[in-house]
Amino acid sequence: MALLTDDVVTPSDQDEKIRAAADILRKGGVVAFPTETVYGLGADAMSEHAVARIFEAKGRPADNPLIVHLASVEDLRRVAQGWSEKVSALATRFWPGPLTLVLRRGCRVPSIVSAGLSTVAVRVPRHDVAQALLIEFAGPIAAPSANISGRPSPTKAEHVRADFGDRIEMILEGGVSEEGIESTVLDTTVEPFRILRPGSVVQEELAEVLGYTPPLYSGCGDEASPGTRHVHYKPRAKVIPFSGDAPAESGAFLTLSVSPPPAADFSEQASSIEGFAARLYAFFREADALGVEKIYVELPKESGLGIAIRDRIDRSAG
Ligand code: TXA
Ligand code: MG
Repeated sequence: MALLTDDVVTPSDQDEKIRAAADILRKGGVVAFPTETVYGLGADAMSEHAVARIFEAKGRPADNPLIVHLASVEDLRRVAQGWSEKVSALATRFWPGPLTLVLRRGCRVPSIVSAGLSTVAVRVPRHDVAQALLIEFAGPIAAPSANISGRPSPTKAEHVRADFGDRIEMILEGGVSEEGIESTVLDTTVEPFRILRPGSVVQEELAEVLGYTPPLYSGCGDEASPGTRHVHYKPRAKVIPFSGDAPAESGAFLTLSVSPPPAADFSEQASSIEGFAARLYAFFREADALGVEKIYVELPKESGLGIAIRDRIDRSAG
C-alpha cells in the first residue's frame, strides 16, 4: 500500500513543484497556478513566444490583453511607467489582492501581452502558491484565467484539468480559490479612473483611497475594455437569472436569499454574498457534470460585491 498518495502534499513536495514550475516558465512553457480569485494560466510575461503559447492554449482571441502578475509592488517599474501617487496609494492599500490596475505599458513588455495596446494590466496576487511561484521565477508572469476561452473561470485545479488535460505542462495545486470571481480591473490611464471589470474590491473601497467613486465603465465593444467584447463564463447548460421567489421548475438552482424550489434536481443556497461569489463558477461546472439543461441563478442586490456577481451572471446568460 502506498503511503504517499496524490492527495498528500508535504511542504517539501510543494517547494519542489514550485521550482519545477518556475523552470518550465524559464524555458518558455505554460503553467497553471492558483490565485485567490481564480486559477491562472501563466507564462513569462517578457517573452513574446511564451505569451503566444497562452493565447494558443486557451483559444483566446488575439485582441484580448492579459494581466501581468508581480511578486510585489517593487517590481512595478519592470512592466509599467508614469504612474501617479493615486496609483501607489491603491497598490499600497489593495496589494497583494484582487485589484488589477491598467497603467502605461513599460517598453520592455512585449506588445502581445497587451494585445497591441499602449497600456498594461498588472496585479500582485495574494495566494501563497502564486506568491511562491512569482518569487521563485523572479519575474513578471502573464496570466489570464486558466479556462478554455468562453468557459467559466476555474476555481479548483480539477477545473483546469477538465479544460486542458495534458495540453499544458503543469498544474500547481492550491485548493479552492477564496474569492471565486476575477479581480476588479481599474483603468488608471484616464481621469477619473474607471472600473473596466467589477470584482471583489468594490467601488466604495476604491473611493476611500481615490476621494471619488470611480464610475463603472460599460462601453461595450470599445477598445478601452477589450475583454468585454467576447463571450464569457458560459457553462453548457442555459443560465437563467431570477429575482424574487425561485421559479417552481426542475434544473439546478443557486440561491442566496430564497430557498431553492422542491422540484430542483441540484441546488445550493449560499450563506453569504462572499460564499455565493466563491461558488458561482464551481456550481456551473458541477451542474454541467450532472447534465442539467437549465441553471437558475438568483441575482443578488445591485450594490457592493453584488455588482460583480450580477456582471458575471449576465455574461454567462449571454
Ligand atoms: O483575477 C484575475 O484577474 C485572474 C487571475 C488569474 O489573476 N485573471 C483574469 O484574467 O481574469 P483574464 O485574462 O481572464 O481577464 C483579464 C481582463 C480582461 O477583461 C482584459 O480585457 C482586461 O483584463 N485587460 C487586460 N489588459 C488590459 C489593458 N491593457 N487594458 C484594458 N483591459 C485589459
Ligand atoms: Mg478570463
